Amino acid sequence: MEQLIDQIKTHLAEVEAFQSSDPGEIERFRIKFLAKKGILTGLFAAFKDVPSDLKKTFGQQLNALKVAATNKLEESKKASVSKVKESTFSIDFTRPGQLIELGALHPISILRNQVIDIFSQIGFSLSAGQEIEDDWHNFTALNLPKHHPARDMQDTFFVQTNPDILLRTHTSSVQVRHMEANHPPIRTLSPGRVFRNEDISARSHCVFHQVEGLYIDKNVSFADLKQTLLYFTKSMFGKSKIRFRPSYFPFTEPSAEVDIYWGLETEADYRITKRTGWLEIMGCGMVDPQVLTNCNINSDEYSGYAFGMGLERMAMILYGIEDIRMFYENDIRFLQQFSSMG
Ligand code: DAH
Repeated sequence: MEQLIDQIKTHLAEVEAFQSSDPGEIERFRIKFLAKKGILTGLFAAFKDVPSDLKKTFGQQLNALKVAATNKLEESKKASVSKVKESTFSIDFTRPGQLIELGALHPISILRNQVIDIFSQIGFSLSAGQEIEDDWHNFTALNLPKHHPARDMQDTFFVQTNPDILLRTHTSSVQVRHMEANHPPIRTLSPGRVFRNEDISARSHCVFHQVEGLYIDKNVSFADLKQTLLYFTKSMFGKSKIRFRPSYFPFTEPSAEVDIYWGLETEADYRITKRTGWLEIMGCGMVDPQVLTNCNINSDEYSGYAFGMGLERMAMILYGIEDIRMFYENDIRFLQQFSSMG
């Protein structure tokens, strides 16, 4: 019995000490003391077992606890409401809004996304490869064996300790990886960053971006390549006159360079087309059967085409950018000019 009375006293002390305007804490207080399964209910249930001579004292104490808890709950609720009111009225409606600085896509990303959109509409998937490559994927599998003179055109960054490991010089390495890992039909687009050990100038940089395309299936012909690239140049530049100039790449046979007819209407047209009206935009060709064999694809059964283009060059032409270094300097004044385009 003594024990019960002590309990009530402890509870009473707790109730009196309780102080909060936090709605969560107040609710926890209510549940603890006043809810159906709360402390008071429990104590009232114990009341019937209290010997009758003690019932009076016990009852008084119990009532005192109930009144204290109920009052405390009401008080705390009021405090919490007035606190909310206070904070509502402390908002200063005249204060100027805070400017949120919006980021913007980099011009190279904008262009890359456009190219991806155009090719994804005709069923090209995306593939990535890796920037640190081995000799096989960047060169040998693409018909560029060791000491092949065409390797010199692509001044390579090697990882010093291992001449077999290098920074990829073109996204054509992704073709090899994709063919090794997938069976035809293959229709894939591989945008990516490439590296060449070149002097940095307004026209060239040691880091730039390419987009590679690869299509392998039965009976793919040069006509398919031409139509696909015509579709691309129409969608991308709004130009529908293109020409294919014979060229050489070790991994395609025949190979071609694609020019679009840009026109000679403005002074800028004369400058960017070197007074010819034609603009070179990419390399392409029919995938050399040896490359298919190197990637475990039966070249008697399958054929295909590939193409590769440089994004910086395209961006410079489209946006009238004179210096390739602008792309990597992260000058906010330069980047902000593209903020409405992404
Ligand atoms: N890899 C070449 C380069 O970096 C570009 C290229 C040319 C890619 C012809 C191709 C292609 O897929 O068929 O200069």
